[in-house]
Amino acid sequence: MKVCVIGTGYVGLVTGVCLSEIGHNIICVDNDSEKIKKLLSGVMPIYEPGLDILVLKNLNSKNLQFTTDISSAIKSQDIIFICVGTPPRPDGSADLQYVEEVAKQIGNNINSYKIVVNKSTVPIGSGDWVSIIINDNINSNNNLNSNDSNYDPNNNLKNDSKNNLKNNNNSLNKKSDIVSFKFDVVSNPEFLREGTAIADTFFPDRIVLGSSSKEAINIMKKLYEPIINQSFKVCDELLKILPNTKNTSPIPVVETDLVSAEMIKYAANSFLATKISFINEIANICEKAGADIKKVAYGIGLDSRIGPKFLNAGIGWGGSCFPKDVSALTKIAAEYGISTQLLNAVINVNSQQRHKVVQKVQEMLKIVKGKSIGILGISFKPNTDDTRDAPAITIINNLINLGAKIKAYDPVVKKIPESLNPKTIFCPKVEDVFDGADLIILATEWEEFANLDFCRLSKKMREKNLIDGRNFLDKEKLLSLGFNYIGIGR
Ligand code: UGA
Repeated sequence: MKVCVIGTGYVGLVTGVCLSEIGHNIICVDNDSEKIKKLLSGVMPIYEPGLDILVLKNLNSKNLQFTTDISSAIKSQDIIFICVGTPPRPDGSADLQYVEEVAKQIGNNINSYKIVVNKSTVPIGSGDWVSIIINDNINSNNNLNSNDSNYDPNNNLKNDSKNNLKNNNNSLNKKSDIVSFKFDVVSNPEFLREGTAIADTFFPDRIVLGSSSKEAINIMKKLYEPIINQSFKVCDELLKILPNTKNTSPIPVVETDLVSAEMIKYAANSFLATKISFINEIANICEKAGADIKKVAYGIGLDSRIGPKFLNAGIGWGGSCFPKDVSALTKIAAEYGISTQLLNAVINVNSQQRHKVVQKVQEMLKIVKGKSIGILGISFKPNTDDTRDAPAITIINNLINLGAKIKAYDPVVKKIPESLNPKTIFCPKVEDVFDGADLIILATEWEEFANLDFCRLSKKMREKNLIDGRNFLDKEKLLSLGFNYIGIGR
């Protein structure tokens, strides 16, 4: 099927590339020409295991194209994915300017029946809003360019589009004097995690499709059929780096209305963030009461009603999704006069968790001013170079404000993030952060850190203090090496 993916951020790029891998004809569009140039030459704009392999493979097979030409891409493809960013505004609500711009472009360029798929995380009701913008722009432009390949004045929808993508009565359409262009909007939220985005796309827990058009949902099911049926072949190159977690039974498809699909996305992220804040609050109680949160989490996680996932206590959640989406949901609720006491607490517990680390540093070192502190990990979680709202950054900035000297190392983050205090010294090698350190803080649980030779590295330190912000390291071993070890909730 012919698909255009607008926006080559995490979501757009992974979605487009994975759809090309299962045999579809994909055009990925971005207005950042440098990024497109790099992608065309096989250089990835993000660190995501396996992505480069799939991009190169599908560029070669011609299933995948990259372009800045949004008009031609919209005109030539039948399914248009909106995958642009919806960054948070200062008040926490989602900024929809990029979605709006893309919807205008779709309206301006629509020349046959299209399915417009909203994959960007948008506030409840945005699906209808996107429809209105597209319609308004069809209105204002009429799109009657006789050069358009799919335009046929005698037969508004050319055979191909007409037969394959026939519209139903619920579809929005604008009848101009001569021609009408129809489209349906589908909400298809993504649930992929950075670092495992490709496996999450190929082996999802579910696919959510929300629309008022049954036919559009059916076409989307056709698009995802190889994934739903798990009938695609995982290429050998990918098998080397990704676990083959193919399911034997079909992937559940949730067919629903637009608004419910949009709400599923917010509710899923908010629930996961709630689970983490819950376990962090329990960890804080464990710490005072003398219990071990790892055992407690294991003990409650075995209850199938609770489940073991997302119960790792630590310095809290960050990234580009949870902080943005939980806040946005509180804003949406406020518009309806609903107070989100639980979600507000989830956000507060998370921000306190970062400050608690700074308090632990003060307890350990007493005087922070002038002390040398080494940070292991900057990214908001392992296997990504994303540092957006990373807990490590808040912690580093607060410690620098208290007068600490910070040396930091991350296996993939090599550029100092803008939000990080520039006094931070970025170390090229992990052992450099141990040189003369009074304290080490593990902020991101990169696998590389589990295998460090702490016996040797401890000899480089001035004081053997260590805060394990992710409860990731071998506590017993570190204690036996003479470390003053503090975890979270244990
Ligand atoms: C999250 C969701 O997990 C995805 O399903 C969703 O598609 C994505 O947001 C999105 O909305 O785009 P992601 O932000 O990549 O994915 O990362 P997660 O693996 O969910 O981790 C989020 C944060 O929670 C990280 O900072 C991580 O360190 C923290 N975390 C996670 C914990 O502190 N404890 C845990 O037990 C699990």
